[in-house]
Amino acid sequence: MKMAAKLMHAVQYDGYGGGAAAFKHVEVTVPTPKQNEVLLKVEATSLNPIDWKIQKGMLRPLLPCKFPYIPATDVAGEVVDVGPGVKNFKAGDKVVTTLGQQAGGGLAEYALAKESLTVARPPEVSAADAAGLPIAGLTAHQALTDSAGIKLDGSGKKENILITAAAGGVGHYAVQLAKLGNTHVTATCGARNLDFVRSLGADEVLDYKTPDGAALKSPSGVKYDYVIHCATGIPWSTFEPNLSANGKVIDLTPSGSSLLTFVSKMLTFSKKRLVPLFVTSKHQNLDFLVNLVKDGKLKTVIDSKHPLSKAEDAWAKSMEGHATGKIIVEP
Ligand SMILES: NC(=O)c1ccc[n+]([C@@H]2O[C@H](COP(=O)([O-])OP(=O)(O)OC[C@H]3O[C@@H](n4cnc5c(N)ncnc54)[C@H](OP(=O)(O)O)[C@@H]3O)[C@@H](O)[C@H]2O)c1
Repeated sequence: MKMAAKLMHAVQYDGYGGGAAAFKHVEVTVPTPKQNEVLLKVEATSLNPIDWKIQKGMLRPLLPCKFPYIPATDVAGEVVDVGPGVKNFKAGDKVVTTLGQQAGGGLAEYALAKESLTVARPPEVSAADAAGLPIAGLTAHQALTDSAGIKLDGSGKKENILITAAAGGVGHYAVQLAKLGNTHVTATCGARNLDFVRSLGADEVLDYKTPDGAALKSPSGVKYDYVIHCATGIPWSTFEPNLSANGKVIDLTPSGSSLLTFVSKMLTFSKKRLVPLFVTSKHQNLDFLVNLVKDGKLKTVIDSKHPLSKAEDAWAKSMEGHATGKIIVEP
């Protein structure tokens, strides 16, 4: 199919800053897939905090590499065209993918994805449920398996895990995945989400605005072997007394002070550590997560759905930082 002359609706911005108010709704040419790319008709896109952090210039000078930039990366859709080197997909296939921050392109009717980061989406998994998975699900998976060594088949010794910001995009997947392993999960969230986070499988839940919650103190008195730290702004001095002898904090949002803690704990051979995490998107892990959703072992909880014509509302909602689960945009 020749798509080059066709136009699509997209949302883009022309420079750093400005939040949702800087969005421009434009008609641009539907891109043509190169060698190993697939062209998707987008059915759902999920937002991640990294999307608006890029707009804020927090990753400059690396990202975005050029303006105008169509933000968002986590997309589910249908393949409509493929590059000449694509082997595993054809027009009509339902898929989920992550586009990569350099390229962006998720807030549009069509998007180009790399075949290597694209996985098939079975009919049991809706586009919105699949679109939630890439960055948030892969981060939760990587933190638990690579960083914490949890085996998601339930084998392995029992570990005590603390998950902060457990109601958010990453946290809500992390709680569910952690409970597939041999774990005791303590989780923190806002008061309105205590029952929700319990329903995801957490063994105990703390309201982060209470004194015990702010102190990360386990109600049952356990010390944490691993903290999957999805919140921000909690100092090492708050984690330290709650960690087991070899306890590790896996920090998803490393700051200057947390990087200093990381280095100083290494240099002093401390057994308690803070470890920064940067997600690496792996095709096989995304496939694993999609299949867990298909099998009913993992669910995407949707905070809200917004049409592409009102992508500003989704963006503002993500920037507020109070999502319960994933924020979805649909063309
Ligand atoms: N390093 C990486 O590769 C990587 C990958 C993915 C994400 N991240 C980062 O990880 C963080 C979480 O991402 P996300 O997608 O889960 O964000 P999110 O969905 O926007 O998280 C929102 C949730 O966080 C809760 N929350 C905020 N502060 C909290 C606190 N102190 N204690 C407990 N809950 C708190 C909010 O609860 P209330 O509404 O009740 O306040 C809300 O439910 C972001 O900073 C993101 O950039 C990093």
